[in-house]
Amino acid sequence: MSTTTACEEPVLRDIRKSLELLDLKSCVLSGLSQPRKAIPSLLLWDEQGLKNFNEWTKCPHYYPMSKEMEILEMHKDSMAGALPDSSALVELGCGNVHKTSIILSALAKQGKEVQYYALDVSETALRTGLQALQAGFGHFPSISISGLLGTYDDCVDWIANNTASFTTRSVTFLWVGNSVANLSKTEASDLTGHFRRACAVAGMHCHFLVSADACAEENKLLKAYNPDGGLSSLFLRYGLLHVNKLLRADLFNDVVWNCLLEYDREENEILTFYSPESDVTISSGAKSVTVHHGEKIFFFRSGKWNGDQMRSIAQQGGFQVSQVWGDAKQEYGKLSPKVNFQGG
Ligand SMILES: C[S@@+](CC[C@H](N)C(=O)[O-])C[C@H]1O[C@@H](n2cnc3c(N)ncnc32)[C@H](O)[C@@H]1O
Repeated sequence: MSTTTACEEPVLRDIRKSLELLDLKSCVLSGLSQPRKAIPSLLLWDEQGLKNFNEWTKCPHYYPMSKEMEILEMHKDSMAGALPDSSALVELGCGNVHKTSIILSALAKQGKEVQYYALDVSETALRTGLQALQAGFGHFPSISISGLLGTYDDCVDWIANNTASFTTRSVTFLWVGNSVANLSKTEASDLTGHFRRACAVAGMHCHFLVSADACAEENKLLKAYNPDGGLSSLFLRYGLLHVNKLLRADLFNDVVWNCLLEYDREENEILTFYSPESDVTISSGAKSVTVHHGEKIFFFRSGKWNGDQMRSIAQQGGFQVSQVWGDAKQEYGKLSPKVNFQGG
């Protein structure tokens, strides 16, 4: 299928259209103007943010990485076997593509034809990842590698309007790193539904291979996501540094900012907030917003959804969970963390 060689540069398409990416400044100000203040989580995901994330995942307390790698290593052949013989594989938020290599190796071993697309908002990371994948898989005639620069929403739009790009009638969305749970449950259902409809417009079957962390051990969670020290704190606090840089502001002048973590046991979600110890006015152009002492700005969610919650999210999006792979100890419950949504 692929006519490129291992040393050729993979194609990277710029599909950016969404306001969140193209006018992040305005989105910050409008989020701060809402009664419940929030800033876009995209602030965490530029080149520096992704570096912080990758460092954090090497930390011994950050259990999701070792668990996910264990599951991938143990079940990669079965996961690859569950994919159609010939399909497009679109990875949502590919990051450093380490997990991608495991899946692509298993697919290559089974001789499956794959049109792989890496999607991310971080251009530098995307280029680096694509080069690594091209070097590793460019010599497999059954695998082609390319990239999409943009958001999940941009990707929905691109799929619905670029039928000709696909040589297969089936798309699998690979969504690992528990990234699905950085959205709210409703957003996750809505987005999977949007992808399903976009694929239907393009005349393609739609499947998801999603990883989901269902850890419910509070101590373990609090150690992994500690907002007050170590590499977790470096990752979590970066959003505020990014706002400061983006708005050319002086947010830290005489102001102490706290990073707060709340664990919602009912919803199985970690929610994180920034909160200043004194009043701060944040401005961009003619707009300005005051954040009062102790007021909270929501910036990041990490859901730890259990099997029932994942099934319900899938159903709301028009999918059914068809297969689940877990870690050896089933440490996070019987059904998750690895869930495969099969689309209709
Ligand atoms: C939790 S990291 C996971 C990275 C990688 N998949 C892994 O498992 O290590 C989330 C990834 O999604 C990307 N991302 C976050 N929000 C996004 C969005 N709205 N659209 C596209 N990519 C996004 C980030 O840049 C980052 O690479």
